[in-house]
Amino acid sequence: MQWRRRHLCSIKMTWTIKRSLFRTHVAGLLSLALLFTVFLFFSHQEWLPGRSGPRDYPLAYTIRGLRAPKGEANQSSSLRSLWKETGYGAPKPLLNLSSQQAEGTAAEPGGGGAGGGSRTGIMGLGDSMSSNNSLQKEMDVGEKLSAQPYRYILNEPYKCRDSTPFLILLIAAEPRQADARNAIRQTWGNESVAGGLGFVRLFLLGTGKSSDAFLQSSIEEESRIYHDIIQQDYQDTYYNLTTKTLMGMNWVATYCPRVSYVMKTDSDMFVNTEYLIQKLLKPELPPKQKYFTGYLMRGYAPNRNKDSKWYMPPELYPSERYPIFCSGTGYVFSGDMAELIYQASLSIRRLHLEDVYVGICLAKLRIDPSPPPNEFLFNHWRVSYSSCKYSHLITSHQFQPNELIKYWNHLQTNKHNACVNTAKEKNGRHRHRKLHGERLP
Ligand SMILES: *[C@@H]1O[C@H](CO)[C@@H](O)[C@H](O)[C@H]1NC(C)=O
Ligand SMILES: *[C@@H]1O[C@H](CO)[C@@H](O)[C@H](O)[C@H]1NC(C)=O
Ligand SMILES: *[C@@H]1O[C@H](CO)[C@@H](O)[C@H](O)[C@H]1NC(C)=O
Ligand SMILES: *[C@@H]1O[C@H](CO)[C@@H](O)[C@H](O)[C@H]1NC(C)=O
Ligand SMILES: *[C@@H]1O[C@H](CO)[C@@H](O)[C@H](O)[C@H]1NC(C)=O
Repeated sequence: MQWRRRHLCSIKMTWTIKRSLFRTHVAGLLSLALLFTVFLFFSHQEWLPGRSGPRDYPLAYTIRGLRAPKGEANQSSSLRSLWKETGYGAPKPLLNLSSQQAEGTAAEPGGGGAGGGSRTGIMGLGDSMSSNNSLQKEMDVGEKLSAQPYRYILNEPYKCRDSTPFLILLIAAEPRQADARNAIRQTWGNESVAGGLGFVRLFLLGTGKSSDAFLQSSIEEESRIYHDIIQQDYQDTYYNLTTKTLMGMNWVATYCPRVSYVMKTDSDMFVNTEYLIQKLLKPELPPKQKYFTGYLMRGYAPNRNKDSKWYMPPELYPSERYPIFCSGTGYVFSGDMAELIYQASLSIRRLHLEDVYVGICLAKLRIDPSPPPNEFLFNHWRVSYSSCKYSHLITSHQFQPNELIKYWNHLQTNKHNACVNTAKEKNGRHRHRKLHGERLP
């Protein structure tokens, strides 16, 4: 009996233990599931700016998202493809950059404004110019180039006669790109983005094929309607882009020298002009002087591959690296710089890579480009669209006119709660990308 009781008891005990063990398991599983749910919840919440970090850096959390949404697994290969894309060749180790700086994405140490890291670039060129006299001779043409090399076919000399604008947009466009110009007029080039501040939009054109008289007359018609085209008598080719940019600089220096700021950009860009004006240029402050900013390209080496679009013959540019320059997809400068750069250009041999060339002018002027307040503002690749990201950047590259209109309109209708729907959008976009195979930067 006693045995039995004990036995029974032990059976009962085992059963109780088993039951409690079972309960523990269930409880454990439940709490695991709960933890997982909480984790999912918070990882979504992280997408909301101001939630997990200081409000001032709303995009700090999208480092990967902005940069290379897919390729983050292999940094080196995505880096290489970026270099391939920009074609400037990998930065040489001469500058002794950290790899992050070389990539061009690192924040400036200490956020030290205009000085800081960019000095190395200037010193780089300064050194090579002073230590190597033959380079100095290479870069200088000796005599001054004529101040007005090409005749204006279309001009807008009175844009600033009645009032001084806050911002001029100089947009390099090809003659035949009428639809890109129209898309820009309706979107980021629309005067209304500047509110009551003065705003001038100018498309920079050379001439198309002389056989195409119809093209020229349609451009002249467009110019009569919108008064936003300046055109000079040189062939509009990729290799004449430096001439085109200098035409714009000279226009500003001649017809609008007191403008507060100028942005030079391209016709296939998305530019958040409102963010540029309100958050970067800040019309409520006195305008800056000798200011130049954009996507900083630091420590890049000339491309010596003859088949490349970015090929730079050693005879034209013998030095092993370029001075610091800003990507030509979009850079911003104070109005006084137009005259300075144009004057500097008169004694520097023209190179076809316009952004490199403007960098050389800056080096000659000993003016350092300033790093932008955060590294996500200027992008010379295509940032995958979300209203949250696009409401906090200034440039994104590679847009067809119809895409520009589509995304711009989406941003306008969502800009007051641009980041609220981010998680939803993100999911939607993944699906969209799968369906339509959207090209990533
Ligand atoms: C990244 O890609 C490069 C070349 O594409 C390869 O050599 C390297 O092993 C890869 N690294 C990783 C971690 O996958
Ligand atoms: C680069 O930096 C390292 C350590 O900071 C230093 O030892 C090296 O001499 C530097 N190289 C050059 C070329 O300045
Ligand atoms: C200066 O540059 C030339 C190429 O133009 C090169 O041949 C020469 O070796 C360089 N001199 C020095 C001291 O670097
Ligand atoms: C510019 O924007 C205003 C206000 O949003 C709009 O009324 C106007 O039609 C736009 N202009 C063009 C050319 O789209
Ligand atoms: C640039 O334009 C000039 C003037 O039309 C022309 O002679 C020259 O061939 C063009 N240069 C290039 C590289 O296209």
